[in-house]
Amino acid sequence: MSDIHAFAPGRVELLGNHTDYNGGVVLSAAIQMGIHATGRRRNDEKIRLTSEGIEGVIEASRKAGLLPRGGWEDYPLGVAEMLARAGAGIGGFEAHFSADLPPGAGLSSSAALEVATAVLLTKLFPLEISPLDLAKLCRRAENEFVGVSCGLLDQVSSIFGKKDHVIHLDCRAETVALIPFPSDLGLLIVHSGVKHALTGGEYNERRDQCFEAAKRMRVPALRDVTSTELAAADLPPLVKKRAAHIVGENERVFQALDFLRAGNGDAFGRLMTASHQSSMENFQNSTPELDALVAIATRQKGCHGARLTGGGFGGAIVALVDLSQIENLSEKILADYLSLTGHTGKAFRCLASDGALANSLSV
Ligand code: GLA
Repeated sequence: MSDIHAFAPGRVELLGNHTDYNGGVVLSAAIQMGIHATGRRRNDEKIRLTSEGIEGVIEASRKAGLLPRGGWEDYPLGVAEMLARAGAGIGGFEAHFSADLPPGAGLSSSAALEVATAVLLTKLFPLEISPLDLAKLCRRAENEFVGVSCGLLDQVSSIFGKKDHVIHLDCRAETVALIPFPSDLGLLIVHSGVKHALTGGEYNERRDQCFEAAKRMRVPALRDVTSTELAAADLPPLVKKRAAHIVGENERVFQALDFLRAGNGDAFGRLMTASHQSSMENFQNSTPELDALVAIATRQKGCHGARLTGGGFGGAIVALVDLSQIENLSEKILADYLSLTGHTGKAFRCLASDGALANSLSV
């Protein structure tokens, strides 16, 4: 049997930071970089995983049961386990992974790894499952097997992305809508060079604080709270700040939808910068490097706004810029960042791209 190939992209989060696990709304896009998986079935129960740039072979056995081990392999093993639980006849297989997505940039290499595995394995061991259920299955692998309580944003973006479109995910309704990205605007991603990792505990801590706010306000989730209601609520100060971020982000996403449809880059960009401000003040998931990058980007002519993208605590920013200015801006921002912080950043134009559904998913 010849090798099967699968590809799943990373994603850029444009607005709606940490709203996904609060039943909220998000705007994102799949990007042109991601994870490739190549593999084949084996005639025994063995699983062999390899990854470009990482030495060694990970060996596991379906017979012995799959358990987390604490390394990168937990993502593919977790997906294999969840697919098996969902009824796929997962047997032995070999898979090799390679990435053109920088890990630790907050561009969702984890979800890309999960989705690439899921696409590969559903080709090798067919299972009837809808794209949304596949996204949820990948999320379950991350929640229950890897141990990160992430929401659904990354997996949905990696699966549902569409070239030149922004994804609008409503996590309560579980709906995905695609909105054309204005053709005269561009997205510039600038990696701060300081890694972001979600396994650090801050992510789950923020999540708990959000849940505490909802519980104290006697609502199912922070999605159900308006900024006026929050202002009047009697909450511990830190919990209130966390909630203010989520409530503000949901409101910003709803406002942004109209601006996006009207191609109003200035107004959309202002919301992105306001989102970053709220990350700095309320959610405290930014870093001095990300703050420096946003400050540098937003003072350039041709940049409409900028914010951290993804979980935070390191990683990259995304800036909304005039497409005609993207090259100049990229050079200028990197030069200013180096002279201001001593860090060498990395910048690239981000293209809203097709997700796994368009690429290779045929469920
Ligand atoms: C990470 C998580 C997502 C989401 C973002 C923040 O990327 O995996 O589920 O919570 O952070 O919006």
